[in-house]
Amino acid sequence: MEQKQTGTGQDSNARARISRRGFLAGVGAGVGAAGALALRPAEAIAEVLTPRAAGLATSPDHFGRIFNLPPFADLAVPDLPAALRAIGAPGGLLDAKDALDQGPVLLLTNPALSANNPDNPNHTAGTTFMGQFLDHDITFDQTSKLGVITEPTTTPNQRTPAFDLDSVYGGGPTVTPALYDPADTDKFVVESGGLFEDLPRRADNSAIIADPRNDENLILGGLHAAFLLFHNHVVDLLRSQGQTGSVFAPAQQLVRWHYQWMILHEFLPLFVGQAVVNDILTNGRKVYRPAAGQQFMPVEFQGAAYRFGHSMVRPSYRANLAGDPGGNPATGAPAFFGLIFDSAGNGQADPVDLRGGARAPRRFIGWQTFFDFGGSFTTALRHNKLIDTHISSPLFNLPIGAIAPGTEQAPLVLPQRNLLRQMTWSIPSGQIIAQALGIPVLWAEHFPELQQFGHGLPSSTPLWYYVLREAETVGGQTLAGVGARIVGEVFIGLLQLASTSYLATNPTWRPTLPQQSGAVTGDFRMVDLLTFAKVDPTSRGQ
Ligand code: HEM
Repeated sequence: MEQKQTGTGQDSNARARISRRGFLAGVGAGVGAAGALALRPAEAIAEVLTPRAAGLATSPDHFGRIFNLPPFADLAVPDLPAALRAIGAPGGLLDAKDALDQGPVLLLTNPALSANNPDNPNHTAGTTFMGQFLDHDITFDQTSKLGVITEPTTTPNQRTPAFDLDSVYGGGPTVTPALYDPADTDKFVVESGGLFEDLPRRADNSAIIADPRNDENLILGGLHAAFLLFHNHVVDLLRSQGQTGSVFAPAQQLVRWHYQWMILHEFLPLFVGQAVVNDILTNGRKVYRPAAGQQFMPVEFQGAAYRFGHSMVRPSYRANLAGDPGGNPATGAPAFFGLIFDSAGNGQADPVDLRGGARAPRRFIGWQTFFDFGGSFTTALRHNKLIDTHISSPLFNLPIGAIAPGTEQAPLVLPQRNLLRQMTWSIPSGQIIAQALGIPVLWAEHFPELQQFGHGLPSSTPLWYYVLREAETVGGQTLAGVGARIVGEVFIGLLQLASTSYLATNPTWRPTLPQQSGAVTGDFRMVDLLTFAKVDPTSRGQ
């Protein structure tokens, strides 16, 4: 079996090679923070960190690397891109092969149709879209080319690497006035889709928002609209409390801090497990340690680990329960069900699928399918897909509108794009990173299906693929091992280092806005935000 050397040469493969049982004992769900605690001493890890990762960064405006390790394969071998495309091809290894011909309703209601693509009982369906919304707040690469080797540190990140909602606020009312209400510039413009809120749109239906990607699908667009309304209601609250003059800045701070609270207390634990969050908060970050104000977006996160979210996407969703009374009962009306993407929707004014970029009365989100509002609403909840190497079939045929401006080159197959980005950024293999961290390694016996593609990929696996298999190995409810460590440290690092974060400036702060019940408790969750924004099922009456 082909083996790669580590960058440090300190770990023999024999020492790092472990059984599946060994991996489970190291990183498994329910075994506490064992995976995190297995990290090598700080001095050993420091050997493989780049200067940027270790605190000598200069600018948050560009991408960077955490690890100073070789890429997963010899990138000069001419057929490597073809091998990566084959792994990510429609109908190939990663394709969950969902029975799309059965339609969006059955794909949501009949688990037997998804034997190869099981639900995650621990994640409600909205977790995916908050994951995507968070990605769009911190990273946006409009420059690098698929499969073309690119230097991260000279490649601009179009987003600030901070959970500051620049994807929503843009530069604020002065710098980006088009986002704000000319009659009340403390507030965002929000329009109506006919029944409920919609993003403001131009005549061609493109959204007038700070990050065009947030109109990529209906659920994400709904979340963006909910954040616009959340901000506007916070403005109203501050005024009702007697604040005069412009309240934009204090409203923005309240919005950001409540959002960051939810990230740390609700979403990050769903992604990486509470034990890893606790370990990082208690024992500190070991691999992502830029100086305050010099935080940057690492390609190991942007190009690989955080793209785990693509595995959580369902093939279909119920956008709302009663928004389509004139629709076809045979396809679920008055509820609006749709495949997330369906080529039948190309060119339709009110597409059959859940793509963004369109306006019609039924195109809004009934949030009780996506987040748990409790009581009788809980029966409406649906779940994410497990984090594993089965990707829902619609992601193998994206509409062109789902590809961000400036990056539209082929292929429209998301797994192929993710795999080619491992080349773009020369990302190290999962195995070599796990070795460097001193945590359990998934060796070639865990990737027998990759043997046929050559390049030594079973023992030097592209990080994105490796992270999905790590999660799968522990049941797929959260990330594990390398994936959990990278995602956990970057999230917490950005929260701790950015000056717009409460963790950086006021770490003992607690939420001050009311929860769903109306009471201020010092906690705040997604259902509370949606309720405060008045887009919850009770406010909608459906
Ligand atoms: C329907 C859901 C989603 C779709 C259609 C989608 C689609 C895409 C596309 C087309 C790209 C650009 C790929 C490339 O050219 O390399 C991308 C990038 C990315 N996606 Fe997703 N995505 C979805 C959900 C998610 C989720 C849930 C997460 C994480 C939890 C995520 C994380 C990322 C990240 C980190 C990037 C890189 C962004 C950048 O810096 O430019 N995505 N996604």
